[in-house]
Amino acid sequence: MDFLNLPRVKLANLPTPLQELPRLTEALNGPRIYIKRDDLTGLALGGNKTRKLEYLMGDAVRQKADYIVTGAGFHSNWCTQTAAAARKLGMKVALVKFGPKDGYDPEDYDGNHLLHFLSGAEIQVVRPEHTQKVEEETMEKLKAAGHRPYRMVDAGSMPLGVAGHVNCLLELMGQIVDRGLKVDYLVHTSGSGGTQAGLIIGAKAFNTTIKVIGSTTGSRSRENSTANIGNLIGESLKCLGFDLKITEEDIVVYDQYAGEGYGFMTEAKAEAIKIMAETEGIFLDPVYTSSSMACLIDLCRKGFFKREEVVVFLHTGGIAGLFPYKAPLKAYGSGKAFPWTIPPWSPAAAET
Ligand SMILES: Cc1ncc(COP(=O)(O)O)c(C=O)c1O
Repeated sequence: MDFLNLPRVKLANLPTPLQELPRLTEALNGPRIYIKRDDLTGLALGGNKTRKLEYLMGDAVRQKADYIVTGAGFHSNWCTQTAAAARKLGMKVALVKFGPKDGYDPEDYDGNHLLHFLSGAEIQVVRPEHTQKVEEETMEKLKAAGHRPYRMVDAGSMPLGVAGHVNCLLELMGQIVDRGLKVDYLVHTSGSGGTQAGLIIGAKAFNTTIKVIGSTTGSRSRENSTANIGNLIGESLKCLGFDLKITEEDIVVYDQYAGEGYGFMTEAKAEAIKIMAETEGIFLDPVYTSSSMACLIDLCRKGFFKREEVVVFLHTGGIAGLFPYKAPLKAYGSGKAFPWTIPPWSPAAAET
């Protein structure tokens, strides 16, 4: 396939703004910090997944799909944006989400789970080890009923989804060139890896010297993330028609900022959310963007960046995730211990 001729539907408000963060820069006594506002992509409550969905939905539309089948964590932003994209394009959506037990359905509908419900998504919650089987069965049932379902796996971290973040890098380059800036680092959160794979490919393809740094969400170790992103880059280069040499040294991942598991809260993440809100009036989320901001803050404090360097923080969205975390966020800074670290919807909650 050729990158410039991929199937694509317009879902996002692009380009997203690139803004300077002078008060955060001052508070951290750090390098010049900018933010790329992918929380303002516009679909549902915004976020990075819309970029992936422009290409994946383009393919689904081309295949005349009438149902999207996908899955991820109980409070997944991917599921929120996919459900919104599907509805906007006149399709139905079946979500297979993982939770502490099969059939988990809390009384209190909050955060992304509420948004999934409001989108009219058909929701099944299962243990993580059952998700693949249940997604496959859902596909079969829909086909047997005469539908044309289209399945998206790995939170859209598939080669076509990766194209969305190659495009993000291209867009950022245009903004940098317009302002005469030289950017040294691009810091973001890495989960299923599609965002980082696309940014790294973009940084190489457009011959930049930007170093892409990913901070994990707690679901993978650094080694596991690096291997996963490496594989995805390999597949995507072939699929998108890029002839580039990308090595393991290009894949920079930090795994110490997310806490002990996916969705677990830490004081460093709560601090990152508060600092950003209090210095710049921008809200981060407790699962994803707070991990990469905690990483950026720590690297500033350790003197990793030079004062004259320029760092762009990619805000990948996730804002709906703030509300289910009100208890630990309120506890932060009060001198009290966190009320909980394992979210009740986490598969790990069943094991405690
Ligand atoms: C808000 C937010 N940021 C970052 C990510 C990570 O993106 P990726 O899964 O492409 O690594 C996600 C993924 O769910 C997300 O929802």
